[in-house]
Amino acid sequence: MKKIAWNYLIIGFGVLLSACGSGERVSKEVFDEVNANMEVKRLTEAEILQEAMIWGDSISTEAQRQLITALQNAIAEGGPAGAIDFCHVNALPILAEVAEPHSITIRRASNRYRNPADQPTEREKPILEAYEYNAENGISSDPNIQKFDGGETYLYTKAIVIPGGFCLSCHGDPGKDIDEATLSKIQELYPEDKATGHEVGDLRGMWSLQIPKSEVVKRM
Ligand code: HEC
Repeated sequence: MKKIAWNYLIIGFGVLLSACGSGERVSKEVFDEVNANMEVKRLTEAEILQEAMIWGDSISTEAQRQLITALQNAIAEGGPAGAIDFCHVNALPILAEVAEPHSITIRRASNRYRNPADQPTEREKPILEAYEYNAENGISSDPNIQKFDGGETYLYTKAIVIPGGFCLSCHGDPGKDIDEATLSKIQELYPEDKATGHEVGDLRGMWSLQIPKSEVVKRM
């Protein structure tokens, strides 16, 4: 009985030594095993695309959450008119901050834009039009992913639909949903504004994320 306990102790000590890096060379078996595992990790394009889809969804959801939280705080402080000032200064920096640690870009694109910086690019146009077509015909849209840069970058997009009356205080009908102070703030800061007259359920635009394939692979 005593002898067995000793054996355990010796084995335990040995494990401890190697765990601390006693300078022992990695045996061929271990080396081969690591290589075999790396082999298994060779990913298919479909798996990478699927991961990009999941990641795109989670980052755009996070960005949405951050914008809405900031917006609600700004409204609580300065009402909708004050929050227009807040969004004018902070909407794009908040998105940049969400994107930055992931080495991706995040933006929102809309044909009925408030900020002219949110006009769709040539690459985004046909996708946005497809979302618009679906919305006009009562078809719900799934998120979409496309490759560009010879397959090295993904463009992830997701429709932004007006979820509730909360948005209408700045995107609904002037006079009815949007009060006068808010409307004049909008006109002052966004003379080209096209983002009013919306109803709940309308397409407001889309999320547009550029995700390098290499960043997706790093996560897998
Ligand atoms: C307090 C006013 C206010 C409210 C409430 C509000 N927005 Fe906006 N929204 C703005 C402003 C201001 C901008 C322009 C931000 C900028 O300069 O980047 C904007 C821009 C956007 C954009 C980017 C496209 C564009 O038009 O430039 C989308 C999409 C959007 N809003 C969706 C929503 C949704 C969805 C809701 C409700 C959850 C909402 N907004 C609620 C003021 C508001």
